[in-house]
Amino acid sequence: MALHLLSVLAGVLLCSSALTSSSSSLESSPGKSDSLTKEHHWGANLTTPELIDAFGYPVEIHHVTTQDGYILELHRIPHGIAGPSTGNGKVAYLEHCLLCSSSDYIMNDPGEALAYILADAGYDVWLSNMRGNTYSRNHTTLNPEEFDFWQFSWDEMALYDVPASIDYVLGVTGSDAIYYTGWSMGTTVFWAMLSELPEYNQKVKAMAGLAPVAYLDNAIGPITYIAQYTDQLEIIFDLLGVGELLPSNDLMDNLAENFCDKNSTFAEICYNFLFLLCGPDADELNKDYLPVILAHTPAGSSAHTIVHYGQLINSGVFSKYDYGYIGNMNHYGQATPPLYNLSQVTTPVGLFWGNTDWLADPTDVARLSAELPNVALNYNVPKEEFNHLDFGWAMHAREYVYNRLLEFFSNY
Ligand SMILES: *[C@@H]1O[C@H](CO)[C@@H](O)[C@H](O)[C@H]1NC(C)=O
Ligand SMILES: *[C@@H]1O[C@H](CO)[C@@H](O)[C@H](O)[C@H]1NC(C)=O
Ligand SMILES: *[C@@H]1O[C@H](CO)[C@@H](O)[C@H](O)[C@H]1NC(C)=O
Ligand SMILES: *[C@@H]1O[C@H](CO)[C@@H](O)[C@H](O)[C@H]1NC(C)=O
Repeated sequence: MALHLLSVLAGVLLCSSALTSSSSSLESSPGKSDSLTKEHHWGANLTTPELIDAFGYPVEIHHVTTQDGYILELHRIPHGIAGPSTGNGKVAYLEHCLLCSSSDYIMNDPGEALAYILADAGYDVWLSNMRGNTYSRNHTTLNPEEFDFWQFSWDEMALYDVPASIDYVLGVTGSDAIYYTGWSMGTTVFWAMLSELPEYNQKVKAMAGLAPVAYLDNAIGPITYIAQYTDQLEIIFDLLGVGELLPSNDLMDNLAENFCDKNSTFAEICYNFLFLLCGPDADELNKDYLPVILAHTPAGSSAHTIVHYGQLINSGVFSKYDYGYIGNMNHYGQATPPLYNLSQVTTPVGLFWGNTDWLADPTDVARLSAELPNVALNYNVPKEEFNHLDFGWAMHAREYVYNRLLEFFSNY
């Protein structure tokens, strides 16, 4: 049992590490410093704003406080490398995946990573960090050492973090609506937010959902082990008083550097493990930067956030957190958790999905698509193998996904 739990946790960890990042041809990038070489794994110890700055892009750090007191950090790339005059007056908002952060969208060469591509296409780009990740570990009264800080799942991110961040961005930019991109959990919180707060439809011009997740009952691979142990995991976490899960720390960085280095005997294992969890696609992975990628993540979240996904795998429905009978009666006044209502998502949606994505399985994406009332684009990536990770760090993500995303946004 203990071993099982460990391997499940390790799996979640590595999978979501891979989820966050992308890297290719960093050494050929137009960085400001000569030290930007892979020998130094230079990206490993820089924050998101430092990385953006290292590539010569403008960057700003902002903070917003949610209704329930969490202090979130937003990262902004106000314009592209060519300067403010090339802006198109549009505001892009990017939401990250599970155990990820704002670094999701900038861990690649500026010509290849989505945040830079959007900035260079004229967008004012805002990168979100939801509660509990590396950049958003502060609260007006709680602190992350306390169990209470971690009593949330993606329900609360959807209800508080995303709306607060969108309102803040609209306030600063003076714009009346954003262009929303979500990847994996970044799509889950979008559907949940609009189900609860449909008035936010008018604050979003269009939404691009990369590897979209609402239903998980067709998810395959070892990740489904989580589902089997969901209840036990929750009890163990609560007994041990573990609210936080998998923060990015020195230990992880060391493991990544020593065991997932390209020259390490373990490199093949690290590499294959990612496929095992997230789906195959050997062509698109860049081994050289695996250590850099893993050093940036996992960015941390609450145990409940992961347990919540385990519940979806088990239940086959898209619902709020299941607190068990008594907890549900207390929270919701009913025995089972309420379902989210996808028909409230009326903003135009573009779905981008891959054939070998084991987490956003094509069958589950089709079910989601059928329930969303305004799917303006249903885009199956035209490549035989394209997995959950490829949406952020594939060597050809621009060619396969981002060019189509830009075209989609340009219609609105
Ligand atoms: C980052 O790492 C490099 C090489 O390991 C080191 O030279 C540099 O001082 C580090 N920078 C920071 C900010 O820690
Ligand atoms: C947390 O936010 C408060 C403002 O409410 C600020 O004074 C404090 O410095 C922040 N702490 C950290 C670690 O950023
Ligand atoms: C990996 O091995 C090659 C050849 O054996 C060597 O040139 C290179 O510097 C090594 N890279 C690292 C990161 O150790
Ligand atoms: C979902 O929302 C739609 C549109 O507002 C409404 O007609 C429908 O009754 C809702 N369904 C449920 C189960 O609440």
